[in-house]
Formats: sequence, structure tokens, C-alpha cells
Amino acid sequence: MNLLVIHGPNLNLLGSRELAVYGSATLAEVDRALSDEATRLGMKLEIHQTAREGEIIELLHSGIDRVDGAIVNPAAYSHTSRAIADAFRAVPYPVVEVHLSNIHAREEWRRTSVTAEAARGIVAGFGPRSYVAALHALVEVGEES
Ligand code: DQA
Repeated sequence: MNLLVIHGPNLNLLGSRELAVYGSATLAEVDRALSDEATRLGMKLEIHQTAREGEIIELLHSGIDRVDGAIVNPAAYSHTSRAIADAFRAVPYPVVEVHLSNIHAREEWRRTSVTAEAARGIVAGFGPRSYVAALHALVEVGEES
């Protein structure tokens, strides 16, 4: 199983950004924990981070005919981007949306995710473990199909 992992804007600053909300793990540490679990499960990950909305969409397109699923944290684009939501709908593989924080327990404007409307499912609120839970969900969804 090949999976795309896409981290959106500002996630490159994990470990120094709003520590009380996002914790002290850096993005490299998040990726390492996820990669270790993927290796244990015999899965291949292709990991990207970008601040650009269009690049998230292009990365999703690049997975067509190549990957079996994607784990995406669109970060603040979750709350605004109909274009990323449409890309989730356009690709043939399942997309799991991930958030480190519980977006439903935060400011009003964060409680709506327009991209989540188009995701296969979402995992939010478990810090870096949200990504690992999404990986497990994709393995199980893949086994069903
Ligand atoms: C986030 C939540 C978003 O509201 C925020 O804009 C982020 C990170 C999360 O992982 O908790 O940048 O996606």
C-alpha cells in the first residue's frame, strides 16, 4: 500500500508554534513516528509539506493511479478551501483529514471544515497520534475494498 501524506501551511513550524495548542513535537518527529508505524505495517509513505493551496491540489492529483490513499492536514485551508474539497472528491482513493488539535473545541471559525465534507473521514484532537490513527483507518478501509 502506498500513501500520500500532505501537511499544509504553518505545520513546518510545529515544535515552536503555539505550543499549548499543538505540543512540542516537531514535524520531523511527527513524520518519524508515522514512518515507523508505516514500516511496521509494510506500507510506503510519500510525505510533503507546503504552504500553497494549489500545490496541495497538484499533489493530490499526482497520486491518481499511484497511491491507495492520502492523509492530509490542510491546516487553515480546511476552513476555507472549496478547491481542496473538490480535489478530495476528484481523486479515486480515500482521503483522511487529520488535525492535531480538536478543531471542534476551538474558535467558532475553526469548527467548520469544508474539506472534511469531502474526506472519507477525519481524525482530530490526538496530536501526532491523529496521523497514526489515520494510517490505521486507511489500512482497514483498504482491506474492506
Ligand atoms: C490544524 C487546525 C487548523 O485550524 C489550523 O489552522 C492549523 C492546524 C491542526 O492540525 O490542528 O494550522 O489543522
